[in-house]
Amino acid sequence: MSEPAAKKEERRKFQAIRGTRDLLPPETALWTRVEQTAHEVFRTFGYGEIRVPIFEPTELFARAVGGETDIVSKEMYSFEEGQSKGLFGDGEGMQDSMDFINAQNSPILMDKYLNDLTAEYETGAIARTADNERAIATIRSVSKELFAISKPSDEGPEDLAIKRFFEYVALRKPFEEKLQDAWLQIRKRDQISLRPEATASVCRAYIEHNMQQLPQPVKLYYMGPMFRRERPQKGRYRQFYQIGAEVLGGTDAPAIDAEVIEMLVTFFDRLGLEGTELSINSIGHAVDNCRRGYVEELRSELNKVKDKLGADSQRRIDTNPLRVLDSKLEHEQPIIAALPKIADHLCDECKTHYAAVKRDLDLRGVKYVENWRLVRGLDYYMRTAFEITARGLGSQNAVCGGGRYDGLVELLGGPPTKGIGFAIGEDRLILSLQESGKAPSQQSLDVYIAWMGPNAYATAIRAAKNLRAAGVSVELPPTEQKFGKALERSSKLNAKFALILGDNEVSSGEWTLKTLATGDQTKITEANLLAHLKQRQ
Ligand code: HAM
Repeated sequence: MSEPAAKKEERRKFQAIRGTRDLLPPETALWTRVEQTAHEVFRTFGYGEIRVPIFEPTELFARAVGGETDIVSKEMYSFEEGQSKGLFGDGEGMQDSMDFINAQNSPILMDKYLNDLTAEYETGAIARTADNERAIATIRSVSKELFAISKPSDEGPEDLAIKRFFEYVALRKPFEEKLQDAWLQIRKRDQISLRPEATASVCRAYIEHNMQQLPQPVKLYYMGPMFRRERPQKGRYRQFYQIGAEVLGGTDAPAIDAEVIEMLVTFFDRLGLEGTELSINSIGHAVDNCRRGYVEELRSELNKVKDKLGADSQRRIDTNPLRVLDSKLEHEQPIIAALPKIADHLCDECKTHYAAVKRDLDLRGVKYVENWRLVRGLDYYMRTAFEITARGLGSQNAVCGGGRYDGLVELLGGPPTKGIGFAIGEDRLILSLQESGKAPSQQSLDVYIAWMGPNAYATAIRAAKNLRAAGVSVELPPTEQKFGKALERSSKLNAKFALILGDNEVSSGEWTLKTLATGDQTKITEANLLAHLKQRQ
């Protein structure tokens, strides 16, 4: 690097990574108010706070959210950690894969390595992930195919034997390549991901701490950062914040669904969030004649209009046809409007459940609209699905999403357990509050202490300490200031009062308090100060 370039590099200004951001005062005061309100409202509904780790095994999210979803397949921040625990040293390099392939020449060695590999997977030395399981199954089956290619005899003329041998090598080659690919796909270190959401973690914690033994249902809420590698735009970040709640265990009574939604609405009302709209739907459950039947019909209808759909929707016909209903593409809208609707496919149980949820919402005075196209982007949902949109958010207007997920705890190795919950996008909630003028414009300060002279400094320290102990915010300047300068600063800091302490005030015990908005000035004793401030607030 040339010298000027090195200097420039040294002076490089670092910036927050794309999709992440700093939250600064005074905006953070609004974040605190929102979070405080969540603590208060959720407590009144009997919820307790849970704090789960920021990172978890990748497999937890793959299993819970779904390997084919955008969140898991494209958006997770994943990394490997820990010591490699596989065969042959670090087990991941090319040389190791060659050793493995060469071992396939000897039936005894091949058997040994295959057995070792399986044993390591079963004991968990090689991470027990769906990807690893697939790779090992491929290795087993390809090894069998390879074994079936018998070595030619080297009887007969030498050039014929050589020719046969090269044919044999060529025949083996594609199988060996397949084996090598599969070998290199085995991930032998722990696969970890930053959490893209927290429902999977809460269910993991429910199982890990035997919460099924507590009185059911267990009602938990959480708040904190989540991570998804999405294309950043207004209201969409790579590190974003959620406030979420989950109800686990007990029954799937529709009243639980309705109460979860009522709590959400109460929270938004308490914050003064405007222009919200709650959409609900039932997506049935994954049995033959309910959702599965619907998905099949949807797929076949979509295949009929495949040519008219965009690339994303075309791909989703195979991977997850329900997600086509989510499409925002203008030209797809009339096509989607004509597709079959899930409501016509719900089984009797799901229909009854959905009708009861709606009745219960009515009883609670919760307003909603039904949206048959609301399907949600995570695999664990069944029956009730809901979303809330809010004003001022542009295209990313979903401020909250949630739904029922009976079966998820079981999928993660726990007992059959009912579950329902939601997560609010806190960044979007804040944006919407700001857009509707609900944000404090500037951090407020109660008292600025303008002290002059060493005697006054000691008194100022005492006054600051006592006022702060009573919850009053105080700015105590670190150095002495001239009177005019002190007043200038107090108004720059938006203080409500200036407490003026000079030699006269200290010796007489009569302090001067100036109300900055009006300019009024009064004399006051130390004993009366606090009561006076409280009265004027
Ligand atoms: P989700 O719909 O993926 O659901 O996310 C919930 C909310 O998080 C969204 O409605 C949105 O407000 C916010 N959000 C999502 N991605 C971003 C982003 N990149 N930037 C800013 N905000 C974002 C879940 O996460 C489920 N775990 C909700 C749930 C809990 N279902 C049952 N229990």
